[in-house]
Amino acid sequence: MGAAGYAAAKELAGEPEPAAAPQPAEEPDDDVSTWEGVRRQFALEPGRAHLTSFLLASHPASVRRAIEEHRKGLDANPRDYLNEHELPLEEEVLAAAAEYLGAAPEEIALTDSTTMGLGLLYGGLRLGEGQEIVTTEHDFYATHEALRFRAERSGALVRRVRLYDEPETASEDGIVAAIVGALRASTRCLALTWVHSSTGVKLPLRAIADAVAGANDGRDERDRVLVCVDGVHGFGVEDVAVAELGCDFFSSGCHKWLYGPRGTGVLWGREEAWGEVAPTIPTFDGRSYLAWIEGRAPADTPPGAAMTPGGFQSFEHRWALADAFAFHGRIGRSRVAERTSALAGQLKEGLAAVDRVRLKTPVAEALSAGLVCLEVDGMDPREVVGLLDARGVVASVTPYATQYVRLGPSIVNTPAEIDEVVGAISGLPR
Ligand SMILES: Cc1ncc(COP(=O)(O)O)c(C=O)c1O
Repeated sequence: MGAAGYAAAKELAGEPEPAAAPQPAEEPDDDVSTWEGVRRQFALEPGRAHLTSFLLASHPASVRRAIEEHRKGLDANPRDYLNEHELPLEEEVLAAAAEYLGAAPEEIALTDSTTMGLGLLYGGLRLGEGQEIVTTEHDFYATHEALRFRAERSGALVRRVRLYDEPETASEDGIVAAIVGALRASTRCLALTWVHSSTGVKLPLRAIADAVAGANDGRDERDRVLVCVDGVHGFGVEDVAVAELGCDFFSSGCHKWLYGPRGTGVLWGREEAWGEVAPTIPTFDGRSYLAWIEGRAPADTPPGAAMTPGGFQSFEHRWALADAFAFHGRIGRSRVAERTSALAGQLKEGLAAVDRVRLKTPVAEALSAGLVCLEVDGMDPREVVGLLDARGVVASVTPYATQYVRLGPSIVNTPAEIDEVVGAISGLPR
């Protein structure tokens, strides 16, 4: 019997109404000047150290409030709320994203996730006869699968290169050399991930982009290597404007480290690079729509809007993305970066002193961000995560062929929690 049937049966039996659901804890004030204040913005289950924001974010209070406000408006009158608010709210979201990325709003497509952005990008990239895509062995499922689909559909050649053998000893020079060594005259696209969720290694994107720029010297516009990045584990962590990293395209979900609404993301492309990608899903942008009504090709839809998949959306989440960027901005980009780096550093230092632990993520800040991967000698990572769970530590296992225990300290954590995590790991049974 489904839920409706259950409710009907209860009514017939004359059962009393259940007690009212517990009221949510009092709404916090907006003060994020202290880390305690930041932590109060989250409704995370207390008494546990939550170190998996890199999977899916908990919404901070201001994002929850914005979602609720838009939801109420849409529930009351979907047509009117949409007509009145869609344009200004979408503009607000794009302006906030543009400021954060250091880019122009016209260059940004709004997506549901990193994965959606990568699918649109790799599915729509224009490749000439015989041109290939180079990716790496360390990339996530979403990149590898989007490229496999692309290869199956169009026969495009996709090659994978290895950037390091053991992640903990990866080096900037080694990574850049492996990439440069992999480029051929036929390489049109370099598909990379900023921070590898398989190992925690952060790629030196700026150095890679500079090296690729050297390789692009003298190439025709249509033969340039385009640097395309899954940036999700640096987005909302690193203190750098994405547009300054030197890449051509950058896809990121906003529902991890940025603590944006679940089901939101951005795909940014350099203005000139956008000409190399064709849309897959029709946009609902008014300029394209009007052109269709008038029976002409859309001429004035900016590339980001043209690449923003249409169909009506879960608008309450999309529009609350502006509040997530505002939340991040109120805390301060550099404060977030310093805090994340300090907590990850504390965790790595603590773990380095535990005999049975082998850290897989580099210690150097230049080659790591917030993710910390490790092995515990003689233990299966899943067993470790299960035991940590029982000790109040929420961790995860890397979803890759080689599995590690993975922790992601972030702005919701405290140094005391990190000490507890180290204690929990060092106290694991032998
Ligand atoms: C590197 C990487 N990219 C993308 C994703 C998926 O992110 P999204 O939900 O934004 O598609 C993950 C993990 O969830 C990941 O580790």
